[in-house]
This record gives sequence, structure tokens and C-alpha cells, in this order.
Amino acid sequence: MNVIGLMSGTSADGIDAALLEITPKKALPEIRLIQFLVRPFSAQLRERILRAADAASGATSEICRLNALLGELFAKTAALVTRRAGISLRDVALIGSHGQTIAHFPDAPVEHGVSVRSTLQIGEPSVIAERTGVTTVADFRPRDMAAGGEGAPLTPYLHALLFRHARRDRIVLNLGGIANLTFLPGGRGLRGLLAFDTGPGNVLIDGLVARLSSGQMYADLDGRIARAGQVNRQLLRFLMAHPYLKRRPPKSTGREAFGPLVIDALLHRAATRGITKEDLVATVTAFTAESVALHVTRDLPAAAVSAELITCGGGANNPMLITQLQEALPECRLLTASEAGFPGRAIEASAFALLAYLTAYGLPGNLPAITGASHPAILGKIVPGRAFRGLQ
Ligand SMILES: Nc1ncnc2c1ncn2[C@@H]1O[C@H](COP(=O)(O)OP(=O)(O)O)[C@@H](O)[C@H]1O
Ligand SMILES: [Mg+2]
Repeated sequence: MNVIGLMSGTSADGIDAALLEITPKKALPEIRLIQFLVRPFSAQLRERILRAADAASGATSEICRLNALLGELFAKTAALVTRRAGISLRDVALIGSHGQTIAHFPDAPVEHGVSVRSTLQIGEPSVIAERTGVTTVADFRPRDMAAGGEGAPLTPYLHALLFRHARRDRIVLNLGGIANLTFLPGGRGLRGLLAFDTGPGNVLIDGLVARLSSGQMYADLDGRIARAGQVNRQLLRFLMAHPYLKRRPPKSTGREAFGPLVIDALLHRAATRGITKEDLVATVTAFTAESVALHVTRDLPAAAVSAELITCGGGANNPMLITQLQEALPECRLLTASEAGFPGRAIEASAFALLAYLTAYGLPGNLPAITGASHPAILGKIVPGRAFRGLQ
């Protein structure tokens, strides 16, 4: 069956859409990527999303409006990816939409006698189903959270499908706004997986560059700014003391922990200590690499330090980040997802196509050992498409 996956990540750079052909098999489903594209957000829309996601400036009315607007844009992107593939939306069985994360609070403080975990992804699935006519599964994270999990990461199942190897240990490292890794022990199929967020991917780099350029630039494209700077060791030590790094998996994070507050602290330190903009960007880039390396050496089996490290996500295009990562993990063999057999930019969106498929077949999509949930759960909310005939 043809399934579309839609995703907009923490970076809020645009909507990723992947069109997959998924073939049920006795053991694991087989997937083939038919088409993939990214529909970038305008600078203005990106700014609006980031403001809505910032606890200090997000307004409920704005989140409400963005929910509907993003639903429309997700629907257009689904239509576009099918057009590019030369097929009709009528030939699409399902859409899986991750949405746009606005808030993610996996810690569970006790309030009114109950422990409350919460996460919010917007991009209204009713709009997607209405415009496309296709049954849409969305909101995958809250069910895992309701079952006691972090609601993240949800991509390891797909990572294992795509990249497990008969002999070699592999790590899939997604360098999105937040960085997350999946450890795939050689020869073990879906068993023995470990996965969690390691901390920032591009989120601090992007945030700093945007502030330093007064919004003229949104990322350190090709690592050009970092290349002109030197890593400030003292500042790097300050960053490495971030409490998220001390925690052990299962764990997940977001802009709440690596957002405006950290950026303000960095800019303040840079101003008082005369640290240049280039050194600042070089240092936060090194922070991403060092925080990944810390988790690989501390939280994975010892053999992981010489695993194959498959990089994906936008940060894989930042040569400074990749160089620093190789320096921090000298025994790992780095390769891109494309070199390992699947286009890196298509992975996250494909994961949500796969999750929609699993839900439609009544199969759980979370891996409790990874998210910390108390049981495997069928994830998501289903909005009926045009062909839906009720529960038969
Ligand atoms: N050529 C590049 N050089 C440096 N950074 C890049 C480049 N291309 C993409 N990026 C980074 O990747 C980010 C988008 O990555 P993505 O995987 O889509 O993250 P998310 O899942 O959070 O949306 C951009 O915001 C930018 O920081
Ligand atoms: Mg993105």
C-alpha cells in the first residue's frame, strides 16, 4: 500500500513528506521510498512557529490558528508529493502526520495527585483528511506518554528496518534540531536496540546564528561561521554541565531545555568575556559533537565506540559538525544514510508513514524499552478519509 509520512521537526525549517510503498511481510514489513520532498517554510512562518513554541511568547490564540494553517500546508505537501510521484491521492491508503511540536514535557511532576506528562504537536489532522480524502493518523506521541513513556523517540523501529546489519554494530544519528541516536547491535534484528535524545543537534547553532544576525540568517550553512572560529574550552565545559546530559536514558528533550534561555546565557557570557561570534558558533557546534560522544561512550555497550555511525538530518550537511564528531569519536566509521542505502532527509517522515501503517494494522508502534512506556501501545489518533466505511 502507498503511505505518506509528514513531518516538521524542532528546527521548523519546513515540512518533509515521504511517499512509501509498504508491503506487509510475515516478519517485518518491507518499505520502498517512492518520492520525497521538503516544502520549506518562509522565514516569517518559521519565526511565527518558533514564537508560538517559546513559553515566554506563545499565545493560545496563535497556536490555535497555526494548528489549522499547518494542517492546510501539510495537506498541500501530501498532494505535492503524490503529484511528483505521478500518482493520485486516491491511490494513497494512509497518511501519517507527526505535526509540528510546540511543547514537549516528558518529566512527570505530580499535580492534583496524578503525574502529568505532556506533549503538543499541531497541524490539524482533520484538515489533512478533509483536503486529501485520505485517512490520516496523527498525534503519535501522547499515547506512549499516557502509557508512562517519554513519547520519544519513535523512529528507532524504522532505523532498525532500514539499517540493521547481520554483523556490524551501527548507530543511526539524526542531527535534527535535537539530536537523537539509535544503537543497532549487529545480528540482533529488532532486539537490543537503544535509543534516546542526546541533546542539541542544530537548535543552538540555529538560535545563535539567528540572534547574531538579527534574523537575517537561520543556520550556519555549511559550517562557514564555525570554520572561522576556535572552540572556547571554558564555554564548552559550561555547556557540558547542562543537567540533561547527566540524566540516563530513557530520556528525550526539546527547545524547553535547549532554547532561548541557553542562548541568552551564551550571549551574556560571550559579551562579558569578549568571545567572538565565530568562536561562539564553533563552540556550540562542538557541544553537539561532544554531547553525542559522551552518550555513545557512557550509555551504549563498550563496542559502540567503534560502530558504524550513520548520520542523517539537516546537521549531516554541516561539515564542521561532522569533523568535530569524527574527532570526538575517532574509532567510529562515519557514513551518511544515503551511503548506507536510504536518503537521510527522508528518514523522519518515512518513520511516521510506517507508524501510521502499524496503527492501521492494529500493531504497536512504540518500543517500551526505549521510551520507558509500561507496554507496547498502538499509537495515534485516526481521522477517517473519504473511503472510510466505519468499523466493520
Ligand atoms: N548545509 C547545511 N549546513 C549547516 N546546517 C544545515 C545545512 N542544511 C541543513 N542544516 C541544518 O539542519 C536543520 C534542519 O534539519 P532537520 O533534520 O530538518 O531538523 P528537524 O527535524 O529539527 O526539522 C536546519 O535548521 C539547519 O540547522
Ligand atoms: Mg526539518
